[in-house]
Amino acid sequence: MAPHLSSEDRASGPRHVAIIMDGNGRWAQMRGRPRILGHHAGAKRVREIVEACPDLGVKYLTIFAFSTENWRRTQSEVAGLMSLFRRYIQREAQDLLQRGVRVRFIGDRVKLDARLVTLMDDLELLTSHNDRVHLTIALNYGGRDEVTRAARRLAYEIEMGRLTHKDVDAETLSKFLDTHVLPDPDLVIRTSGEARISNFLLWQSAYAEYEFIDTLWPDFNDAEFARIVKSYAARDRRFGGVKAKA
Ligand code: FPP
Repeated sequence: MAPHLSSEDRASGPRHVAIIMDGNGRWAQMRGRPRILGHHAGAKRVREIVEACPDLGVKYLTIFAFSTENWRRTQSEVAGLMSLFRRYIQREAQDLLQRGVRVRFIGDRVKLDARLVTLMDDLELLTSHNDRVHLTIALNYGGRDEVTRAARRLAYEIEMGRLTHKDVDAETLSKFLDTHVLPDPDLVIRTSGEARISNFLLWQSAYAEYEFIDTLWPDFNDAEFARIVKSYAARDRRFGGVKAKA
């Protein structure tokens, strides 16, 4: 059971939480099972965490499902993950729609299988009127890749004469990022004991709080999620300024 959060906790809690779901492979290996089984167990956790968001005051949840570097894994693990993403979308689409979840995908779709991209587009459209929770799934996503693609599109706009170099500032560049409709994350959680950000939301996390926890992703649950959200509410965020006087 997740601990109760007061309305003050909810108001001062993170509106946007991003999660690096790490440790699936180790979770499976510890049980003498193939790594893909850990990913399947991890996929089951996503539903519980999405469902916990409204009660915790978390409006936006962004999860790292596949990075631009994950192609370096064995061909069989990559194929297993791609098939898992397809099945996840097919199986969960109606449920996500009913539960008021708006789903978006970020990352470069060019390298992804056409069948998967069609499912992603359809799910985005199907859930586009939902507003209870905004779930963003990062698939073939890398922070550097995203900023590079944004810079390329910005350069194209300049080449076409629709912008000039004087228009290039942080606000304009942000509009070309995959996340342009989302607020910046307030809190980034990484499971499995690794203290790295692994190219996740590099630009957007400039002022985010980080929480690195030892739990492997398939063991992460709503109670631990609620504990972290609650502890965030007690943190003092200054955004480079000084502490406000009481
Ligand atoms: C990292 O664990 C996890 C991934 C590369 C995949 C994340 C995918 C899921 C949680 C599954 C499904 C998600 C959706 C949206 C359906 P790892 O394999 O690097 O673990 P390890 O560090 O223990 O090897």
